[in-house]
Amino acid sequence: MNSLGAIIMAAGLGKRMRSKLGKVLHPVAGRPMVLYAVELAERLTDEGIAVVIGHQGDQVKAVLDTYAAGRQRSKSPRGSRPMAGREQGMTAHVKNPVSKAPSILTAEQTQQLGTGHAVMQARSAILRARGRAAGTYLILNGDTPLLTEATVQQLLSVHEEEKAAVTILTAMLDDPAGYGRVIRAHTAGEPRQVLKIVEDRDTTVSEAAVQEINVGTYVVNGAFLFQALDHLQPKNVQQEYYLTDIVKLAVEQGLGVSAMVVTDADEGLGVNSRRQLAMAERVIRERIRARWMEAGVTLHDPATVWIDADAHIGQDTVLYPHVTLEGDTSLGQDCVIRSHTRLANSTVGNGVVILDSCVITDSHLEDRASIGPFAHLRPGSVIRRNAKVGNFVEMKKAELGEGAKANHLSYLGDARIGKDVNIGAGTITCNYDGYHKFETVIEDEVFIGSDTQLVAPVKVGRGSIIAAGTTITQDVPPNSLAISRTVQANRVGWASKRRAWLAGGEPDERQEASSQRQVVSEGKGNAQTKASAQPRAPRPAPLASKIKRPPKAGGK
Ligand code: UD1
Ligand code: CA
Repeated sequence: MNSLGAIIMAAGLGKRMRSKLGKVLHPVAGRPMVLYAVELAERLTDEGIAVVIGHQGDQVKAVLDTYAAGRQRSKSPRGSRPMAGREQGMTAHVKNPVSKAPSILTAEQTQQLGTGHAVMQARSAILRARGRAAGTYLILNGDTPLLTEATVQQLLSVHEEEKAAVTILTAMLDDPAGYGRVIRAHTAGEPRQVLKIVEDRDTTVSEAAVQEINVGTYVVNGAFLFQALDHLQPKNVQQEYYLTDIVKLAVEQGLGVSAMVVTDADEGLGVNSRRQLAMAERVIRERIRARWMEAGVTLHDPATVWIDADAHIGQDTVLYPHVTLEGDTSLGQDCVIRSHTRLANSTVGNGVVILDSCVITDSHLEDRASIGPFAHLRPGSVIRRNAKVGNFVEMKKAELGEGAKANHLSYLGDARIGKDVNIGAGTITCNYDGYHKFETVIEDEVFIGSDTQLVAPVKVGRGSIIAAGTTITQDVPPNSLAISRTVQANRVGWASKRRAWLAGGEPDERQEASSQRQVVSEGKGNAQTKASAQPRAPRPAPLASKIKRPPKAGGK
């Protein structure tokens, strides 16, 4: 085929969505709807793509820019991965693998006066940018995300073989309501010539009964298209310029019009409503799951696993029920992800195990890391090789070094933690003073005892030990012990005396006095009271309660 350009219509608000968000920005499997058409067009054209934007055009443009930038960045290996919902394998029509994709031009349609009017804006932008029409145009609705590359390739072949001026994709639907109907000649024998497309709201009763609908995918001769647009008239119920009227114009000019009926009618789904959005989502997600299973990923209960279009999963990785992989998430090989875990925009190496109910966002996990259950890795968490994050650990902008462990109940924020560090249960980085955030640095091989607070900014030097219960407020030199604790007092016999008193005995004044004498010692270990130390008498029962309660049981 001579030069092929593409035009994507994406300027409408989509009133039937009843949304503040422009229709083509609504995500399908985590990717804005318009990108399905863009990606498909990119794989087929060599003359560039013009996207007609209007409603929330800035946002649509931002989506296109981000997409183009990502495509530049990821030529491999992500660029070579199977595409969401698209057939693999290049055929004769594929002029541009995605890595050498053509530029994306945007054409602004300030007033949405119909699909024909949208293509007029594309024409102006193309003429400004290139000075001429491409030989042929592929024109796509921005709201048809289920369309596959294989189908469009077939359509291009039909167009070429039949030397048509216009070739349209059609579908046979039990319920054609809402779509443009394909009106064919009443001649006997097949195939009957396509005469025109009549929009749902403009149909006569007999036309409305026609079950063949216009999918909204067109292949059009460039020269014909550019002149035909000048003949469109907004003479219809909606008073819009309909692109579909180019079919009738071609017939009137004695030019060939071809049509191809899509095999799987699902592909023709146009998303106009939330219900249709949900249908598109279901089909795309089903395709994505099938694709990853074919690629060697185990899904124990496929229907409950949610994998976004831009996610990537390595071979022999196992996903348990109710796992969600969102956005630009990539999992390596041989990983195990247990139930109710959600990963968003994160990269995960090989052999990583993530137990149940973890939330992991914008994070990076290296090979053989182990996470969860119930871990929360917020943006900027980096877990190096063989490191372990256990239950009820929250991390944010924090790096846990190779082989390091934070096994229980911790908050690690704005922290750099070195190799083989042990973070004891209940360790908290106090990174925020109410106004600003500060960093905690913990060098290699440090041992942080349980219930330590690290008041940032602070640095713990390599190989140091922090005693349990310590509040670190100053830097700790390497290979040191840091300890900050209140002095411990043991009153030997105090508890039994109290129990006796509560059982009916009288407080003993002498004991009260002698219990003040006590032996104290610092730190762990040697705190021993002398045998003579006596327990302090219990305070009187609170006024509200005159009833003696039995003593509470000791520690659990
Ligand atoms: C359109 C077709 C209809 C077909 C159906 C398939 C026309 C006139 N009708 O109807 O025959 O059966 O798609 O799904 O083409 N758009 C613009 N600017 C506009 C109007 C629309 O860019 O001024 C864009 C929309 O953002 C959307 C696409 O064009 O992506 C289709 O518009 P929509 O209003 O959804 O057309 P339908 O009524 O579905
Ligand atoms: Ca539509």
